Amino acid sequence: MPSQLRALYFEDGVLSLLDQRLLPAQEVWLGLSTSDHVVEAIREMAVRGAPAIGVAAAYGMVLAVQNGEDWKVARDKLAGSRPTAVNLFWALDRLDKLTDKSVESVLAEAKAIEQEDLAMNHKIGEFGESLVPENATILTICNTGSLATSGHGTALGIIRTAHTQGKVKHVYSCETRPRQQGLRLTAYELMHDQIPFHSIADSAAASLMAAGKIDFVVAGADRIAANGDTANKIGTLMLAVLANHYNIPFVIAAPSSTLDPSLPDGSHIPIEERHSSELTHAEELQIAPEGTPVFNPGFDVTPGTLITAIVTENGINRQPYGFK
Ligand code: MRU
Repeated sequence: MPSQLRALYFEDGVLSLLDQRLLPAQEVWLGLSTSDHVVEAIREMAVRGAPAIGVAAAYGMVLAVQNGEDWKVARDKLAGSRPTAVNLFWALDRLDKLTDKSVESVLAEAKAIEQEDLAMNHKIGEFGESLVPENATILTICNTGSLATSGHGTALGIIRTAHTQGKVKHVYSCETRPRQQGLRLTAYELMHDQIPFHSIADSAAASLMAAGKIDFVVAGADRIAANGDTANKIGTLMLAVLANHYNIPFVIAAPSSTLDPSLPDGSHIPIEERHSSELTHAEELQIAPEGTPVFNPGFDVTPGTLITAIVTENGINRQPYGFK
């Protein structure tokens, strides 16, 4: 097991995933040896976060080739695991383009995807840090750190880089209902890096902003349309509207693998709807009346017009966005 924080690694023909459903209570590594195992792990969110999903799917294709599985069948199953994060499709498309689909070649490409993602995150951290005011109190949502990527993170990567520059006074981390990626995973990462923070209920964000306690909001992305409209974890739009109301910079951080310029605007982004039990149950315990009807979208779309800047590994983009 590696000592630094990471979501996954591929060794000796096996994909090891830190099961994020069990964090922080238990650190359990799953050893996956078929592409079907990877499909299941992505769907059930043992691995999650747009870039990490892309990397896991790439290694899923390595497993498929190793096992002599049909390329297209394995590819289509992986592509069907989660709909919103475009990094999944970006990684699979990259592998589709390989003329040599031997284990060695697919493994080399999957490793390249993983290593490039790590490098992109460090660049995002450097560009994004320049937007963070001195002595900043920063609000973020979901988990966008090492667990959601190949390392360092996107929005959390900016916080990490700004923290090493001594610019971060405090972080407020939204709980991120209903899967609580903020409470379980971002808290885990912030503690690991000894960055001072409080976890908050999502509904506490407005009162913190109204009290003048937030200087900067930063979030990740699952898919960014050509005009800058950005799909990210449900609740992100709420933060963007609030930040605009209180005149606080609202920044999105993502690698270029999260851009989808084939979509003119966010209305075309497929939004995942997840199982009702994510709301009606706390772990195994049913907390809603039996038969409660539930609407449970995993993501929302923030209009580009509400986003102060979109930071990628290539630099800082501002309105009007026109990604190509
Ligand atoms: O449902 P999840 O946990 O996969 O959603 C994750 C997010 O929305 C993240 O903000 C996004 O994927 C960026 S991760 C660097």
